[in-house]
Amino acid sequence: MAEVRLEKVSKHFNEVIAVNDFNLSIKDKEFVVLVGPSGCGKTTTLRMVAGLEQITNGDIYIDDRCINNLPAKDRDIAMVFQNYALYPHMSVYENMGFGLELRKTPKDEIRQRVQEAAEILGIQDLLHRKPKAISGGQRQRVAVGRAIVRKPKVFLFDEPLSNLDAKLRVQTRVELKKLHERIASTIIYVTHDQVEAMTMGDRIVVMKDGFIQQIGTPMELYNAPANKFVGGFIGSPAMNCIEAELVRSGRSLFLQTGTFRIDLPEDKAQGIKSYKEKKVIVGIRPEDLFEAGHHVPGKTIPVTVEVVEPIGSEIYLNVSAGNCPLTARVDRKTKVNPHQNITLEPSLENLHLFDIGTEKSLL
Ligand SMILES: Nc1ncnc2c1ncn2[C@@H]1O[C@H](COP(=O)(O)OP(=O)(O)O)[C@@H](O)[C@H]1O
Ligand SMILES: [Mg+2]
Repeated sequence: MAEVRLEKVSKHFNEVIAVNDFNLSIKDKEFVVLVGPSGCGKTTTLRMVAGLEQITNGDIYIDDRCINNLPAKDRDIAMVFQNYALYPHMSVYENMGFGLELRKTPKDEIRQRVQEAAEILGIQDLLHRKPKAISGGQRQRVAVGRAIVRKPKVFLFDEPLSNLDAKLRVQTRVELKKLHERIASTIIYVTHDQVEAMTMGDRIVVMKDGFIQQIGTPMELYNAPANKFVGGFIGSPAMNCIEAELVRSGRSLFLQTGTFRIDLPEDKAQGIKSYKEKKVIVGIRPEDLFEAGHHVPGKTIPVTVEVVEPIGSEIYLNVSAGNCPLTARVDRKTKVNPHQNITLEPSLENLHLFDIGTEKSLL
């Protein structure tokens, strides 16, 4: 059992507030990902859980025991660092066993645990080598192995894949997911990469400027972003966000931008019935824009194609609707060229609306 709870946790470095009023309850065996742009407070949060950073305010619990004043070595937590932090003068075997040795674990048990971890990670043949004599991907496994042998209650990962090339990153992502299933431990995983967060996390915590923006499952974040930031951060290419005026005409509502109009479907109009502001931000994901035959005012958007990016499985179209730039992800069979005028139809059921001031979701 290892539940982790952070209550109103904050961290100040003099005048810099790195983490602000952080509240999160992590279930036993849950894989939780903290994601956000560089500098948003992910590492600081992880280091506070590990006991490597004093917390300024709030409480951290493991299984209902407050660990605020418990030294790092007594927390039963293993952390995998971004730079792996392997000892260069020690062999892979010694690197993996070192933590156990410090804890005075009997030699036989160390040998057994290192062998077991090496087997899980497929690095049995590397145990006698020094870190400089193995590849980046293998070093990453050693760093994970060093954490596994400890059999900790909680694993903390700080951007463990960021030093790997793109292909290895995808492969290792899958391996870490399998590993989680096998070791059945609670994991807090930090990344700045939204794809990594979406593919790995049971739940994701999106952070910005030290504040939690939203906590949810991958699909909750994708389908119902709490604000414009989460809408734009989750999903690739990023959501199109367009300023528009909300116009009421009888019982119906429509959105008027500088160059086109979108009639709001009944359920969305109902959802913002009592909303008084005139201006809103409309969010349309690139995959919710489709090429349409001809222009229907209120339903489609006339655009001019600017750049065509064939990805292979699909095509990204960078277009402009008047002076408003938009990105559409369209079928790979689509045949269009730069400067061509085409019509795009947004999927209205997947439309997002945000307050122009607070940027919070209105739906
Ligand atoms: N030891 C420190 N002293 C002063 N400021 C720090 C220190 N560590 C982190 N910070 C600041 O705290 C903020 C959050 O940093 P960090 O947690 O490392 O972000 P992330 O891991 O999300 O990139 C940043 O503004 C960073 O400059
Ligand atoms: Mg960091």
